[in-house]
Amino acid sequence: METTLIYEGKAKNVYSSDEPNVLRLEYLDQATALNGKKKDVVKGKGELNNQITSLIFSELSKQSISNHWIKILSKNEQLVKKVKIIPLEVVLRNVAAGSFTRRLGVKEGTILEHPIIEFYYKDDLLDDPFINDEHIAYLSLASKDELAYIKSETLKINNALIKIFDDIDVTLVDFKLEFGKDANGAIILSDEVTPDTCRLWDKSTRTSLDKDIYRKDLGNIIPIYQEILSRLKNKGEDKDV
Ligand code: TMP
Repeated sequence: METTLIYEGKAKNVYSSDEPNVLRLEYLDQATALNGKKKDVVKGKGELNNQITSLIFSELSKQSISNHWIKILSKNEQLVKKVKIIPLEVVLRNVAAGSFTRRLGVKEGTILEHPIIEFYYKDDLLDDPFINDEHIAYLSLASKDELAYIKSETLKINNALIKIFDDIDVTLVDFKLEFGKDANGAIILSDEVTPDTCRLWDKSTRTSLDKDIYRKDLGNIIPIYQEILSRLKNKGEDKDV
């Protein structure tokens, strides 16, 4: 396959493919935090995230949530629909943690009565600043209708993800999504859903099963990501029976 590197990311590289509206993603053995200021090679991470996000996206597809994922190509590669990424990080919080606790002084672990959606402007040079609907309109990142659609899809995705993780005894604390516009102009879920982009707490021990282990220098993330993958796989096999 003749392909060219289109974009070099922190966790994956994006390549063209034989088809004009299809891209190949290569998941990298790289962990970053603090907007790339902390960076390490973590052998095996690319494969794990490629498999985890593929299982989750295929489940979301079954639930009619449109997304860019097409299929797994190899251990660390997948094919996705080509989209133009909307430069917004859409964060949804079910439980207080991370920057929410730091910014608002809310105790970590506080259950939020309703999910809270936040937006960040995806711009490395500006350190992905926190923005609101009016900034989004001012910067023409999305129209009012598009933003309303992104919010309603995010709530739908939250319900689907809560169920997926609940089934494997994991609490979905919060997560970050990215959306893109496909060749027809439709807004679809893109990027990835992995322990890099979600806070996941084990239901019985309340320990982190996500990138906080790396962010807080608490140990090796590989066995933790393996644990998430094997629980998702086992649950999938139960369902197929
Ligand atoms: P935060 O508490 O640091 O704002 O993060 C909220 C959620 O978003 C958490 O699950 C981690 C995820 N996230 C990303 O995936 N990428 C990012 O760049 C940031 C800041 C957060």
